[in-house]
Amino acid sequence: MQTSGLVENKTLEAFDWDFQPGLDKSFIVELGRLDFVRRRDDLVITGKSGTGKSHILKAFGLRACQQGLSLRYARCVDLLDDLHAALADNTYQRRIKAWARPDFLIIDDVGLGQVRKRDDEPTAAHTLFNLIDRRHGKLSTAVTSNIRLRDWGKYLGDATLATAILDRLAMHAIRIDIDGPSYRQRIASQRADKRGVPPSDDSQA
Ligand SMILES: Nc1ncnc2c1ncn2[C@@H]1O[C@H](COP(=O)(O)OP(=O)(O)O)[C@@H](O)[C@H]1O
Ligand SMILES: [Mg+2]
Repeated sequence: MQTSGLVENKTLEAFDWDFQPGLDKSFIVELGRLDFVRRRDDLVITGKSGTGKSHILKAFGLRACQQGLSLRYARCVDLLDDLHAALADNTYQRRIKAWARPDFLIIDDVGLGQVRKRDDEPTAAHTLFNLIDRRHGKLSTAVTSNIRLRDWGKYLGDATLATAILDRLAMHAIRIDIDGPSYRQRIASQRADKRGVPPSDDSQA
């Protein structure tokens, strides 16, 4: 738990299933047993901001730790920053091995935040491809994304490599798309209600 990068204790028990009726509760609860991690399957959760993607994966991450599986959790931009920093101090091989090693790797928020693009560095797509390629078929990786998979090429700066990543990851992965309301929006509305002001539209936040 301490070295995993997971900082919040989200649980499936705390998840409000009624708020997200489009989500198949029994399927998620079954996935939460983490047999897919032991089977080395990958998992891709897509959906708009605030629909509970990170919550579910953080809950899975916590379970993984409790079950004695090794875990690393990172937001995509932070993982890429770590590996880009590793290029500067010649620790890239060591660090990418470390990311490739855990039984369960969670890459949260692909599509959120700016990925760096510099001519003298491998693109985000290269770095992510290297990592996914090392793990694919051997160890389980779970990813969330708030953008459509077909937009990964634009986001990561390389359409061909994005396709190669998705060939490995998404084509064979367990796929969940959460099409529903934002819990963040609900919290914001409730706060605004309490203050007696109309909620602002921050659904794109
Ligand atoms: N159905 C839900 N029940 C309880 N809390 C939820 C639910 N969906 C989201 N949340 C909470 O709302 C916040 C935003 O959810 P999050 O999982 O981070 O959304 P996403 O990753 O899809 O943008 C988090 O604090 C999360 O715990
Ligand atoms: Mg999230």
